[in-house]
Amino acid sequence: MRRYVIGGNWKMAITSVKEAKHVVEKMIHGISMTSSIDVFIAPSFNALYPVSEIIRGSSLKLAGQNMYYHESGAFTGQISPLSLIDANCSYVILGHSEPRRIFGETDRFINKKLIKALDSGLYPVLCIGETAKEREEDKTEDILYDQLSGCFRDIAATQLKNIIIAYEPVWAINNKFLNPDTTIRPATPSEAENAHKIVREWFSDKFGPHISEILPIIYGGSMNSENAKELLSIDQIDGGLIGGASLSAEKFLPIVRIAESLSGVGTQNYRWEDNTLRFNN
Ligand code: PGA
Repeated sequence: MRRYVIGGNWKMAITSVKEAKHVVEKMIHGISMTSSIDVFIAPSFNALYPVSEIIRGSSLKLAGQNMYYHESGAFTGQISPLSLIDANCSYVILGHSEPRRIFGETDRFINKKLIKALDSGLYPVLCIGETAKEREEDKTEDILYDQLSGCFRDIAATQLKNIIIAYEPVWAINNKFLNPDTTIRPATPSEAENAHKIVREWFSDKFGPHISEILPIIYGGSMNSENAKELLSIDQIDGGLIGGASLSAEKFLPIVRIAESLSGVGTQNYRWEDNTLRFNN
């Protein structure tokens, strides 16, 4: 069975280290060491290391919000995977709609970063999703397939052990820059379920049914404590990438609780051995 993953994407919302530390201090008290789910937060780069000192020894993990695909060099404004690792990050968010649609990141560019992240040992959370217009024009499947094909170029099944996909329909992300003319709303459980099935089918065709079966596909876009139970109850939805509702412990922890309460008591029935996926008998 797949473990739930709940991630908090702070974007550029919390700008001071002091505030970031304050929020995280409250969060760690609510996440047990024996939690049955994986939880991470992605603060601004300046807060990563200070926050990592607070969460050390807890089960809350850290994510970078992006990274570049070289380890070092003359790349003004970029952050190296080595810097993320140095700041104790376990995850990195890649291909989010904001860098895609506001800063022009392409699938090819994201593909290079994905390869580097996998190589570096970071767990990439690869975001994909269609706009409102694309959905209206019935292009959701084509867009998701295009994004996946572009992002997974030159990547083999044996490299996929730490990958997480986040399906984030652009129209559901609580962001007026991305959605100037759209009424922003969360996906309904069936809209999310259908999109997750499309993603899982693509993985099954490209990498085989076993990889597809264990792939965590999480949902993002206006998820909060009110709609999380309905969304997370869907078998296809393995967690959430949460923006606005991850900015305080009061809003985030109830979502973590919901995922914990839904996560079964069954044990994981697969393991990776030397880059080969094996199922327990
Ligand atoms: P939101 O953001 O929950 O504020 O809609 C989600 C995301 O962009 O990852």
